[in-house]
Amino acid sequence: MYSTSHVNLPQNAREELIDMLNTLLANAVDLHWQVKQAHWNIRGTHFYSRHLLFDEVAKHARKHADSYAERAGALGGYAQGTIRLASNNSQLPEYDLQAVDGEAHIRALVERVGRYASSLRDGITKSDEVNDPVTADILTQTLGETEEDLWFLESHLNGDARVGTTVPPRGGGNRRGRTAEDISQATT
Ligand SMILES: [Fe+2]
Repeated sequence: MYSTSHVNLPQNAREELIDMLNTLLANAVDLHWQVKQAHWNIRGTHFYSRHLLFDEVAKHARKHADSYAERAGALGGYAQGTIRLASNNSQLPEYDLQAVDGEAHIRALVERVGRYASSLRDGITKSDEVNDPVTADILTQTLGETEEDLWFLESHLNGDARVGTTVPPRGGGNRRGRTAEDISQATT
């Protein structure tokens, strides 16, 4: 459903943007409630800090949903934001209902937040293709926040960011830089 608009973009560009924003709205509504599911049901080690982190991620998704719905409105579109509409239109898989401990919830969230971030990156490309820097800017901001959330979540999964990087030798000298693997071999 589209109405007329005085935003200076061709009708077909506005329609493409409105459809894309409604898909992102569905993704954000779906993600918000999936992260709440994790917030309510996580148990085990680091319960409290993870419970709080998940609530922050959920708050971000909820705020993003508002931005997409209102941009769709500004372009002359009808926002499709009910739970039923969102569940039909979301690109995310259903939550992992078997998840109990922290690591299972974090893995489930990393997968879904990552999928959501990809949909935002695609949305920025689409916005650029139809020459709409305003929508591209909104999505760039929400993508930045989402990728930071992804980092916070992924950092719980024992990744070693040093792998493959070169670490300068301690105290200067002529020794070649050591990789993280060198250091780990030298200390085991
Ligand atoms: Fe809560």
